[in-house]
Amino acid sequence: MLVSKRILLGITGGIAAYKTTFLTRLLIQAGAEVRIVMTPASADFVSPLTLATLSKNEVLSSFVREEDGTVDWNNHVELGLWADLMLIAPATANTLSRMASGACDNLLLACYLSAKCPVFVAPAMDLDMYKHPSTQKSLKTLMDYGNSVIPAESGELASGLIGEGRMAEPETIVAHLQAALRAKQPFSGKKILITAGPTYEAIDPVRFIGNHSSGKMGYALAEAAAAMGAEVILVSGPTALKIADPQIRVIPVVSAVEMHTESRRYFKEMDIVIGAAAVADYRPEHPASEKLKKTGDSMQINLVRNPDIIASLGREKTGQFLVGFALETENELAYAKKKLKEKNLDAIVLNSLRDTGAGFGSDTNKVTFIDKNSEITPFELKTKAEVATDLLHEIHKRLKD
Ligand code: PMT
Repeated sequence: MLVSKRILLGITGGIAAYKTTFLTRLLIQAGAEVRIVMTPASADFVSPLTLATLSKNEVLSSFVREEDGTVDWNNHVELGLWADLMLIAPATANTLSRMASGACDNLLLACYLSAKCPVFVAPAMDLDMYKHPSTQKSLKTLMDYGNSVIPAESGELASGLIGEGRMAEPETIVAHLQAALRAKQPFSGKKILITAGPTYEAIDPVRFIGNHSSGKMGYALAEAAAAMGAEVILVSGPTALKIADPQIRVIPVVSAVEMHTESRRYFKEMDIVIGAAAVADYRPEHPASEKLKKTGDSMQINLVRNPDIIASLGREKTGQFLVGFALETENELAYAKKKLKEKNLDAIVLNSLRDTGAGFGSDTNKVTFIDKNSEITPFELKTKAEVATDLLHEIHKRLKD
């Protein structure tokens, strides 16, 4: 959620300011770009040099900067507009009150007033200051203005008293930001199951019937769906690909029968299912338990039908939006439409091996999205990551609330 997000961190003068070193580290580790504005008082609690080193950016605290005889303007409007998100942590009673009243006598407050992005405050102060009606009024006013408050926690305070007023821990603050960003995503609250990769159908312990699917298309869909706020289950045949996003749960499988069992296990709780896997239609009827030896000039393996996973889900569906893929080599549109109907899908994604750069293994694909009302949306050749985002937007447009 925080990858490439531009975060303007405002630090005010309270003892909890020392925790902003950890906070900055966590934000950077989460992939965010961090710029820091400090009130002059906060520099008594944490060193600007430490924060500049951790954020890899200059730390600002006054409107002007004097260097080598020249005077420069630290542009608060530019900073306020640069940010995707502004976080003020710790936010003292003084700063909260000044934000609520519109005061603007330091760079941090000027940035706050200029910011058009969502603003979060993480209050930190002694318990009686936190409880004081004027502080609570400031917090309420700030929330009425559309800002978000990350509540202070209970515990031992710098005064030695115990109570509410401790700044939320850096991990809690980061989780709060992530949850808030996720809630704004189009697939927030949605569960999506995606099948990906090939299936391997065992002939004996060392040989199998498989295909050329690398899993790239399905994995790109999983990553795009998670980035758009979904909780993703990725039922994956054997691939060399890795997933780092904690929103994606990978269920590794080998055969079509296993992929079918795992897809059915989660199907009922899903909102959307996308079948991007290249599933073997047949499997050896009796896989040998030991490695087969060469016996004659030819050999025969009897194959039996595998379950059609997406068609079986099509028969069981109770409101899930079901999307299949069709990999074709001829009569593309006609075959894709036939599969859409026969498998009771809501949409199908056609890709053709006749298109250069489309289909198996490549980092690109060229697809046509066809919905059950025969609305056809063709796309140009794009990276699989871009294709995944296009497809998810097409699905999102057709979802009932
Ligand atoms: O993995 P990559 O290298 O990135 O390649 C991507 C891809 C080419 C595999 C992908 O874009 C794709 O087209 N996947 C579906 C391939 C395929 O098996 O198409 P099909 O026309 O045979 O199957 C139609 C649909 O039924 C598919 O959604 C398939 O997952 C599903 N199916 C098929 C057979 C079966 N037994 N069970 C199924 O669920």
